Amino acid sequence: MARIVVTRRLPAGVQPPVGSWVWEGEGPIPHGVLLEQVAEAEGLLCMLTDTIDEELLDAAPRLRVVSQMAVGLDNVDVEACRRRGVAVGHTPDVLTETTADTAFALLAAVVRRIPEGRDLVRSGGWGEWDPELLLGGDLWGTTLGIVGAGRIGSAVARRAAGFGMHLLYTGRRRKPHLEAELGIAYRDLPGLLSESDHVVLSLPLDDDTYHLIDAEALSRMKEGSTLVNVARGGLVDHDALVEALRRGRPARAALDVTEPEPIPPDHPLVGMPNCLIVPHIGSASVRTRRAMAELAVANLVAGLEGRPLPAAAT
Ligand code: DGY
Repeated sequence: MARIVVTRRLPAGVQPPVGSWVWEGEGPIPHGVLLEQVAEAEGLLCMLTDTIDEELLDAAPRLRVVSQMAVGLDNVDVEACRRRGVAVGHTPDVLTETTADTAFALLAAVVRRIPEGRDLVRSGGWGEWDPELLLGGDLWGTTLGIVGAGRIGSAVARRAAGFGMHLLYTGRRRKPHLEAELGIAYRDLPGLLSESDHVVLSLPLDDDTYHLIDAEALSRMKEGSTLVNVARGGLVDHDALVEALRRGRPARAALDVTEPEPIPPDHPLVGMPNCLIVPHIGSASVRTRRAMAELAVANLVAGLEGRPLPAAAT
């Protein structure tokens, strides 16, 4: 029987293939333990917290398939896997709508200052009704710029269209079908940043996009604008973001992802009232996490049986 390593307990209701070895410890599997366990492994079902690099592949000479329970693959050296004939699977599509819901929820929450309102109530600071209390921005009638109009970015754009927002996007490729469907207009990154009231990041992290949103990019954002990141923390230079939020350009940020994760509680961003940080929960609905795990198992089994993966890395 193929030796299969699964690096985390799967969501309730999803079983790993019979005979799998599953890390049952708290938190991610320690890298040293993973290196030991993969020595005989033919299949690996991993999480975005695991590093799948040349070192791991050297330690796993019999490996035939790496199946990640996430869409993002920045923790997996896909090229190195390819060179060694190791198939790589991930979990696109099944998490698109849930992650877009999260992006929109974060955007609405910080634009309308919901977390600050909750904090005020909890602290007993809610006095008489005040015509100037917690004045925020608007969604309707404003311009949303989407950096990376792939599956998730497009799903965010569809939600924004329903809210009466004007839409811009940028990315590696023009999307004529999306432009026709939603009336969304293409801009280069500097143009998008300077024209948008709110910016959502939904693009993969790689060598080209690391710190794409740096001090220079942030300085192009409008006064009063919003930055939302539901992709990977490494897209944003967090030191530059601290300074930018202090200056009010952007005025607020909402981050589902940070660099590092978890972000230390004493990091300046954590205490800033105009920064909402949640712990990488973009796809964390019960239904979606189950669907992700099912697809990860299906990819794993297909790879071990020598069939095409239902969702192979491209
Ligand atoms: C992913 O899939 O890449 C997310 O970050 C977790 O859902």
